[in-house]
Amino acid sequence: MNKSDRLRIAIQKSGRLSEKSFDLLRGCGFEFDWRRNHLLCACTNFPLDLMLVRDDDIAEFVADGVCELGVVGFNMLEETLLGRGDKDREGIQILERLGFGGCRLSIAIPEDQAFDGPQSLDGKSIATSYPATLQNYLEENNIQAEVIHISGSVEIAPALQIADAICDLVSTGSTLRSNGLKEVQTILKSESVLIQTSKPFSEEKQNVISRLEQRLKGVMRAAKTKYIMMNAPKDALDKIKAIMPGLEEPSVIPLGANGEKIAIHAVAHEPDFWSTMEKLKEVGASSILVVPIEKIFG
Ligand code: PRP
Ligand code: ZN
Repeated sequence: MNKSDRLRIAIQKSGRLSEKSFDLLRGCGFEFDWRRNHLLCACTNFPLDLMLVRDDDIAEFVADGVCELGVVGFNMLEETLLGRGDKDREGIQILERLGFGGCRLSIAIPEDQAFDGPQSLDGKSIATSYPATLQNYLEENNIQAEVIHISGSVEIAPALQIADAICDLVSTGSTLRSNGLKEVQTILKSESVLIQTSKPFSEEKQNVISRLEQRLKGVMRAAKTKYIMMNAPKDALDKIKAIMPGLEEPSVIPLGANGEKIAIHAVAHEPDFWSTMEKLKEVGASSILVVPIEKIFG
């Protein structure tokens, strides 16, 4: 495979998504020739190059075909595409929602001010680093407000009397609280997504993308899945299956000479294993073991 056949994926160099993006790729078994302050970082065991860039640039690069893939917050993706006049997202395709970096783009105002719905924003000024998304929201909701574009520390704009309100990312809400602001309206919910360019690329690259996607899905599935083992009276099997609807075809192994007791081994998809284990104990299960699964494939 020559160099031009190597797939490129852009991820955030440093910031809210960088560590998790990198961890996810490493979880897929990709090893990187890590060089500090290099834009391009080669994968040593897969035809893949990592582009380490600012998050504002990721969707731009993918839409332009500078790289085929990118990991970016949906908020940033929307902002970039709206900024490019691509409201229908024709320049990119979302391949996968990655389930991390959850946050929302919200409007916030000083705590002591009243808010009676979006129309309260009429005639106000709103500072944001997401001008295109905010403008789009205002137009769709018929609100006449002034958008003030600032690139960082948006949360101090009201105190500095630069703007009446702000529109910024909120995750825990602590930035708003410590700046005397309250969240009044969410305009976009976001999480990180894997995106692909709509520009054409070789079939070889398409094959590499499919392999990467399959591994990604495996890692993400494994994160929500555990391997569970327990002993139980033979007649408890149906009750156990009822407690764990997410149980995949369990292996049932008779224990001892009379087979009154069984061992059950299975892959389980459960949101909360603690409460599940309590219920299992109630129907007679014992020696319950829940072990993490690193990878699931096929
Ligand atoms: C966002 C946002 C706030 C903070 C909110 O910044 O601009 O500063 O996160 O999070 P919280 O609700 O948990 O306090 P981000 O981390 O994306 O960094 P940036 O503003 O430097 O891009
Ligand atoms: Zn910030």
